[in-house]
Amino acid sequence: MIALPIVAIDGPAAAGKGTLARRLAAELGLPYLDTGLLYRAVGRLVLDGGGDPADASAAEQAARELVPANLERTDLRGPAADAAAAAVASVPGVRAALIDFQRDFGRAGAVLDGRDIGTVIFPQAQAKLFVTASLAERARRRWSELQAKGTSAALAIVTADMQARDAADAARAAAPLRAAADAFVLDTTKLDADTAFAVALAEVRRRIGWAKTGAGSVMPEK
Ligand code: C5P
Repeated sequence: MIALPIVAIDGPAAAGKGTLARRLAAELGLPYLDTGLLYRAVGRLVLDGGGDPADASAAEQAARELVPANLERTDLRGPAADAAAAAVASVPGVRAALIDFQRDFGRAGAVLDGRDIGTVIFPQAQAKLFVTASLAERARRRWSELQAKGTSAALAIVTADMQARDAADAARAAAPLRAAADAFVLDTTKLDADTAFAVALAEVRRRIGWAKTGAGSVMPEK
């Protein structure tokens, strides 16, 4: 039997993980989960109840109450949601409560992106990518996204917020942001999205042993 593949994509904020993961999933015909949405939704649930996302018991309770529909909320992006997500994500009980959802999602093969997919959620994943870029470039990308949405924010503030969130993600005791020892590190600082995708796809195909058979289709190698 051929094991259905897990493609684990980790890395810091705005490195290009989401775009890459979505394209890889479409190309490989696998479901895609943006695991950051889980932490964002938990943070929002705490804020809804008037709580503080840094309060471990409120955050754990929200994580246990999370339902898939919460991931469809339209207020999961933006500075307040970013900060709430990073705060609840450092609570070990929150991370534990979200493990089963992620592992169930990957049962039939999937592409997942986050911070700890290759290290904690699916340490046995066939393909692991650690997608990164310089802080200046990631902040510039996030700033451009905000501009495009009509949100004006100073680049210096976007950079400082991102640096603080990265530092919190990397320094926390529970599942800190780091590359798995067997991850392929892809630095997208100087790559456009198409080039990053081509490099990532070639590496993922090599690792999962799926050969290309035609326009966009893949097939397990015999
Ligand atoms: O990926 P995204 O920026 O949406 O994630 C929001 C926050 O959720 C991150 O800053 C991080 O604190 C947390 N996160 C996490 N583990 C994941 C995904 C996200 O800790 N697998």
